[in-house]
Amino acid sequence: MKILLAFFLLHLTRGNLGQSANMQPNYVLIMADDLGIGDLGCYGNTTLRTPHIDSLAKDGVTLTQHIAAAALCTPSRAAVLTGRYPIRSGMTSFRRIGVYIFAAGSGGLPTNETTFVKLLKEQGYSTGLIGKWHLGLNCESSEDHCHHPLWHGFDYFYGLPLTNLRNCKPNGGNIIIVGARSTVRTAVQVVIVALITLLLLCLLGLVTMPWKALGFLFLAVVLLLAALLLFFSQFRNLNCILMRNRRIIQQPFTCENLTQRMTSEATSFIGRNSDRPFLLFMSFIPVHTALYASPEFLGKSRHGLYGDSVEEMDWSVDIQGTIALVPFSTLP
Ligand SMILES: *[C@@H]1O[C@H](CO)[C@@H](O)[C@H](O)[C@H]1NC(C)=O
Ligand SMILES: *[C@@H]1O[C@H](CO)[C@@H](O)[C@H](O)[C@H]1NC(C)=O
Ligand SMILES: *[C@@H]1O[C@H](CO)[C@@H](O)[C@H](O)[C@H]1NC(C)=O
Repeated sequence: MKILLAFFLLHLTRGNLGQSANMQPNYVLIMADDLGIGDLGCYGNTTLRTPHIDSLAKDGVTLTQHIAAAALCTPSRAAVLTGRYPIRSGMTSFRRIGVYIFAAGSGGLPTNETTFVKLLKEQGYSTGLIGKWHLGLNCESSEDHCHHPLWHGFDYFYGLPLTNLRNCKPNGGNIIIVGARSTVRTAVQVVIVALITLLLLCLLGLVTMPWKALGFLFLAVVLLLAALLLFFSQFRNLNCILMRNRRIIQQPFTCENLTQRMTSEATSFIGRNSDRPFLLFMSFIPVHTALYASPEFLGKSRHGLYGDSVEEMDWSVDIQGTIALVPFSTLP
């Protein structure tokens, strides 16, 4: 879940270029998790094809130094939206898991934080978030949505309230078990050492074997394992949710044409708002694991599924581009 954020801020004029002296520019902010700086043509990659992003870079500015406020989704996103260190909004963690991974978890970005989205909304902008949120959802119940993007200045949301995890893709693997491996190993070692010690003490005749206690212990372990298995078997159904505004529209979401669906949402958002200033935050679900690509891109790159996913993202940037984007150099 370590992330390298890639930003492309496109600063666009609205409507007819040069028509009005008092123009409010449109903004499209594109963000991608886990995209390496060396994976884009404009930063020197020669084997991954990202012509559309490269062309934006050519007509704009490419930066080579950037400090993210955190190396994880949730805290770094809180920092991006608020311009404050994530610890100030309570979005950091001292524990190993520093991001939201369960839909039933409570907590999120406090609504009294000032996001740049709210500031633009106050200026009359229409604001949309397409893609990943990952800054919390509920406070007390599964329906209060107190940390939903709509409380943070967005007029429109289409995407994942949480994130894409390997567990969200059938046969995609289990990131939580991978993460908990060392804890489980330690627990198993402790139990084994305790049992061997007990056995030795019994053999030496120092204690009698506490069969009853061992039986209860065994039962407790079996029940715990069964509960964990049941939970993980349902992880995808419970946590991998696609929403439009406050309504769940797919549960669990499928990766099939998800990038295409997001792109089509983005272009309709731009289309709906062609007569007023807008902010579109295109928060890509790729190229965070679980990796996926639509059939048009599957197996087409020279860098496996990851490369396919990067190339599909580049396609998506272009589709939005042909509809609404005007490069920096043509700004008046
Ligand atoms: C281009 O990206 C791929 C995939 O990450 C990587 O394996 C390759 O080394 C990169 N090429 C260059 C020249 O950086
Ligand atoms: C938001 O409210 C909390 C709780 O009242 C407070 O601790 C925090 O400082 C507030 N944050 C801002 C940015 O005002
Ligand atoms: C995605 O796939 C679904 C089901 O096959 C289809 O109904 C929908 O039109 C597709 N959406 C896009 C944007 O391709």
